[in-house]
Amino acid sequence: MQKREQLYEGKAKRVYATDDPNVVIVSYKDDATAFDGLKKGIIEGKGAVNNRMTNYFMKKLAERGIPTHYVQELNDRETAVKKVRIVPLEVIVRNLSAGHFASRYGVEEGLVFDEPIVEFSYKNDDLHDPLLNDDHAVALKLATREEIAQIRTYALHVNEVLKALLSDAGVTLVDFKLEFGKTVDGTLVLADEISPDTCRFWDSKTGEKLDKDRFRRDLGGVEDAYLEMQRRILES
Ligand code: TMP
Repeated sequence: MQKREQLYEGKAKRVYATDDPNVVIVSYKDDATAFDGLKKGIIEGKGAVNNRMTNYFMKKLAERGIPTHYVQELNDRETAVKKVRIVPLEVIVRNLSAGHFASRYGVEEGLVFDEPIVEFSYKNDDLHDPLLNDDHAVALKLATREEIAQIRTYALHVNEVLKALLSDAGVTLVDFKLEFGKTVDGTLVLADEISPDTCRFWDSKTGEKLDKDRFRRDLGGVEDAYLEMQRRILES
């Protein structure tokens, strides 16, 4: 696969064209941001951890019938994926209260929900990714009603698969964010990444945070948390 010109640079990844019009290469950076890019930093080694962990999860999800953009891991930081048009929705699944759920509704973190919550935000940093419901998303033509229903089904299925994999690694899946895209032929697939940047992982026994909240909240031990997740998921 031939790497060609850079198509796009996001906060944590770059995307390059290839000689195949249906395939692009994603390159994971060590750059970290929080609060819509307001807080910036570097998490040494993060790009490689996130690349490899995302691919591990994507392969497991594909085995269980969830279509994904994954094509082939090229090296530590780079992966070939199907070219997609990203649906501009951040699809969040929550199993326990944390983060914006806790602050928005004035509850403590760590409440265990009887059923997972699926929540949508409009992917737009300038507007601070506002929360929206299905009707808003349809009115704004971000996705069709059928696509939203499919996304919800996939998101809940992803939750079940990830929860089981993580539980085996002694990790509680608190919440996570997914993005979906449409391939050149119009198929809806899971895209973007599944990593400590986009999930909340708590040690099942101690409750220790093993994700990007350590960076967001200046808790220290950021690199170690990523390496610990790598050890538990990729090296066991
Ligand atoms: P939240 O509680 O801040 O809404 O975050 C919910 C989940 O989504 C959490 O696992 C972190 C992830 N997330 C992202 O991946 N990108 C973002 O921009 C935000 C705000 C959260």
